[in-house]
Amino acid sequence: MSQGISNISIPYGHQSIANEEIQAVVDVLSSDFLTQGPKIAEFEQAVADYCGAKYAIAVSSGTAALHIAALSTGLKKGDEGITSPNTFLASANCIIYCGATPNFADIKHDTFCIDSDKIKQKINSKTKVIIPVHFSGHPCEMDEIWNIAQDSKLFVIEDAAHAIGSEWQDQHGKWHKVGSCSHSHLTTFSFHPIKTMTTGEGGMVLTNDEKLAEKCRMLRNHGMTKNHTDFEGQTLNFLDIESHQAPWYYEMQCLGYNYRITDIQCAIGLVQLKKLASFVEKRREIWNYYNEQLSGVGDLIIPIEKEGFRSCWHLYVLRTLSRNDLLLFLRSKNIIAHAMYIPVHLQSFYRNQFGFKENDFPIAETYIKECLILPIFPGLSKNEIDYIISTIKEFYE
Ligand SMILES: Cc1ncc(COP(=O)(O)O)c(C=O)c1O
Repeated sequence: MSQGISNISIPYGHQSIANEEIQAVVDVLSSDFLTQGPKIAEFEQAVADYCGAKYAIAVSSGTAALHIAALSTGLKKGDEGITSPNTFLASANCIIYCGATPNFADIKHDTFCIDSDKIKQKINSKTKVIIPVHFSGHPCEMDEIWNIAQDSKLFVIEDAAHAIGSEWQDQHGKWHKVGSCSHSHLTTFSFHPIKTMTTGEGGMVLTNDEKLAEKCRMLRNHGMTKNHTDFEGQTLNFLDIESHQAPWYYEMQCLGYNYRITDIQCAIGLVQLKKLASFVEKRREIWNYYNEQLSGVGDLIIPIEKEGFRSCWHLYVLRTLSRNDLLLFLRSKNIIAHAMYIPVHLQSFYRNQFGFKENDFPIAETYIKECLILPIFPGLSKNEIDYIISTIKEFYE
């Protein structure tokens, strides 16, 4: 091993936690609220302001965010939702949670994000929602996807689990932060530790639509409301009181869940959000350096950033026909390279329940055989990066 590299494995991702996050947790622990205190609203407002969206609803995970976002659109049995096959299971599972049927549109060769032309071919009379996934942090073609959705009166939920801190430019030249919901109804984030910023576990829904926001808030907490102006009132009549006489009163108006996040987690998130720009800058530096050093090495295809897009580079994805051998070689040298995602339609549950099969989405199927994900995170040292690069070069010698 090269100088300065320990025997400890280099993971493909790692959170960056420092004293400020630790102090923020200690402060909450010494306060009156562990959960449902002031940090939640503060974190929601801070993320909404950062993204340029009107409303934010913090929840317990990115999966919970996708679930309530999908439910808030009214997605139900008999409807269909379209997402990318190249994603984590949650992007498609959330459609099934609502009782609807999942479908997929294949990905693009260059960004590995859903292909808007392929979405068009999959739309039918049952389609209600499109869930584009900003894979690896590179934003999808939101101009095109939004136009398709408007033409067919569909909801758009951006699964931005990989993409807090990413930006893209619309056809008029205006830049939008992922999460602004400028070209979607809702956007969801995940704050799992592997992501660009973390709250431990956690997630968020963003929207500019007050009604969708209100619905998501209820769904996060058992379908309950304590908001007097929203009461339907039958039970108030039974109790023979008016709402102002019953500050303890609540109504459950739809079936919701306990998807609440805690003040402890949001305190971490508030500190992480302040560091997001520096995290993204560091990831982009590593992305650039890998690209410089690995371009032209063996048969490697380096990741591209298309004009008009700025990725937060949650993942650094190479392609090679020697993927299996190279991945094992790197792992034998303590570099935990990865491969993802197994196309969701090829999971046995999806094959058995919905009849998906091989060759349904050939680009995603070829992609998973050739992709190789290298470590990328702000705490990766120059020595470690150089060690990864020299080990890859050694493989091809
Ligand atoms: C694209 C994508 N969507 C959704 C999720 C779900 O997020 P969480 O793990 O916070 O539930 C993930 C998590 O890895 C993801 O990568």
